[in-house]
Amino acid sequence: MSGPARRLLIGNWKMNLTVSDAQAYARTLLPRLKVAGDREIALAPPFTALGAIAPLLKGGPILLAAQNLFWEDEGPYTGEISGPMLQEVGVTYVLVAHSERRRHLEETDRAASRKVAAALRCGLQPVLCVGEDEMERESGRAATVVQTQLARGLEGVAPGAAPRLQIAYEPVWAIGTGKAATPAQAAEMHALIRAELARLLGEAGPGVRILYGGSVTPANVDELMRTPGVDGALVGGASLKADEFARIASYR
Ligand code: PGA
Repeated sequence: MSGPARRLLIGNWKMNLTVSDAQAYARTLLPRLKVAGDREIALAPPFTALGAIAPLLKGGPILLAAQNLFWEDEGPYTGEISGPMLQEVGVTYVLVAHSERRRHLEETDRAASRKVAAALRCGLQPVLCVGEDEMERESGRAATVVQTQLARGLEGVAPGAAPRLQIAYEPVWAIGTGKAATPAQAAEMHALIRAELARLLGEAGPGVRILYGGSVTPANVDELMRTPGVDGALVGGASLKADEFARIASYR
């Protein structure tokens, strides 16, 4: 069984950058970016900027990602955005259950599994985010927490979906803190996730890409991307400046 194909790096802008900021960013980034054939690069702007930058990115090397979606396709769900809406504006990837949504919006594993299913149903590629917080790591529960998030978040996912599925391992203590996981810590957790994927999806498990996220910067991206088991990166703060993200996207 062969492993995942190309590496995937996604810039997650979170709740930053207006439409005009986003357009300026795309115009700065595009001429600086040479995307090697062994990787895919995507940007996840806020919903408001998706439609605005889609025409700028069209036909180029940067794919569009969304930061969230709702599990129904349409209906009385005020404030929500559905898979078909994202599809229509050209989105390829969609983040599911980022730790900030789990924490501030009380998003559950059950919601995560419904969103993963909705994304797959709509022809989008979900990126299910998992990761332990500092207390969970310190009390030796990191592995159990991540295994539980995976098993619950992937409930009902058929092995045939594996090539369209991504997991992002984002330890909460590493997000926005400048304290990235060490390569050894990332390697250990990615191996554990790989084993859990084999348990859940059988022979299809190795087809799922596992991204690392949490304080990825131009200074540590090369080493993290050389770490065994790391198939890509989810980049927050360092993706907000086009030149920094260009350097990250051209990791060596
Ligand atoms: P960070 O965020 O790179 O700013 O740590 C990563 C993320 O939350 O996706």
